[in-house]
Amino acid sequence: MADFSLDTLLGGITPERFLAEYWQKKPLLVRQALPGFGGWLGREGLSELACRDDAESRLVRTRRGQWLLDHGPFEREELDALPKKGWSLLVSGVNHLLPQGDRLLHSFDFIPQARLDDLMVSFAPDGGGVGPHFDSYDVFLIQGLGRRRWEISGQDDLQVVDGAPLRILQRFRVDQHWELESGDMLYLPPRFAHNGVAIGECMTWSVGFRAPKAQEIVTQFLTYLQDTLNLDGMYADPDLARPVHSGEIPADLVDWSRRQIDGLRWKRDHVVDFLGRYLSEPKAHVFFDPPRRPLALAAFSAGARRRGLRLDARSQLLFRGRQFFMNGETLEVSPALAGKLRRLADTRELPGDLLDESLLDLCHAWYLAGYLAVG
Ligand code: SIN
Ligand code: CO
Repeated sequence: MADFSLDTLLGGITPERFLAEYWQKKPLLVRQALPGFGGWLGREGLSELACRDDAESRLVRTRRGQWLLDHGPFEREELDALPKKGWSLLVSGVNHLLPQGDRLLHSFDFIPQARLDDLMVSFAPDGGGVGPHFDSYDVFLIQGLGRRRWEISGQDDLQVVDGAPLRILQRFRVDQHWELESGDMLYLPPRFAHNGVAIGECMTWSVGFRAPKAQEIVTQFLTYLQDTLNLDGMYADPDLARPVHSGEIPADLVDWSRRQIDGLRWKRDHVVDFLGRYLSEPKAHVFFDPPRRPLALAAFSAGARRRGLRLDARSQLLFRGRQFFMNGETLEVSPALAGKLRRLADTRELPGDLLDESLLDLCHAWYLAGYLAVG
């Protein structure tokens, strides 16, 4: 599925070596990681995406030394009327809106898809950028159109400017800097300070990652438990003695409640079930487009056998063992089906000759939901 060769993408080092030496550890600059890459969008195309309500877009501006941030969707006139300098337009989730973007994001699947977040694209006129900052997640910054000067710093001082709408570093001490040309790429681990300044009109394509926070994973798991638990039993007090204070909560009721809560047990399978649903759940602004004139099973099957199937760019298909998670829904399948679905999850497509009746039945339901398409 990857359109880009892994050899150039990581500058000649293997994914194994990249993971061992750089991933989450130190920056890596790769010249011509994507030879010939100019991006599939220019300012026009990005502005168009920034006006869509199914895109997450931001406009960062500087005015008299102050940083300003606005969220989209924007009006086209507003974007076309921006001044010559002092701004940057950023659109997240471009992998959902552009098939090539989906392929670019998945060129990085030497890292588990459960850790992949999205592809963000930015445009800035000469001198533009979002200021010196750090991100909480790993990022690959790929130069599309034009050039950008990247300054980075391994500083521990990550104090940000109070009250600014963006996390701008109070102090930024440049350790290293490079000028990136189209096709060059800079990998940065989480919390590594950086500043990108456009040299002429500039577009950056950022492949971003996600990592759940402990607070988030546990609170979400508690919500999952709430939805899946079905406990029997009810408090009873046939030996109730008359209380001294009728307003006081009875000690027996406290002890009984504690026994119920202490008795909660979950297995690894429950955690897998929760995690798969949670990680494959579409983001709030993502909606699928079911086919307008859907094919019946027979016509769908004939087409799929001829032309194969591919996941919609918005779909997230994950698995663990024989349990599969498609856009927040789960199912467990037979060993025979599991092998083929793993291939669909890994490569996001399935050739027609692998499709048998049971798989076509399942995929037809996903097709009707807009999760995948023929071809
Ligand atoms: C940008 O594309 O301007 C910002 C990317 C980043 O610094 O993470
Ligand atoms: Co950044």
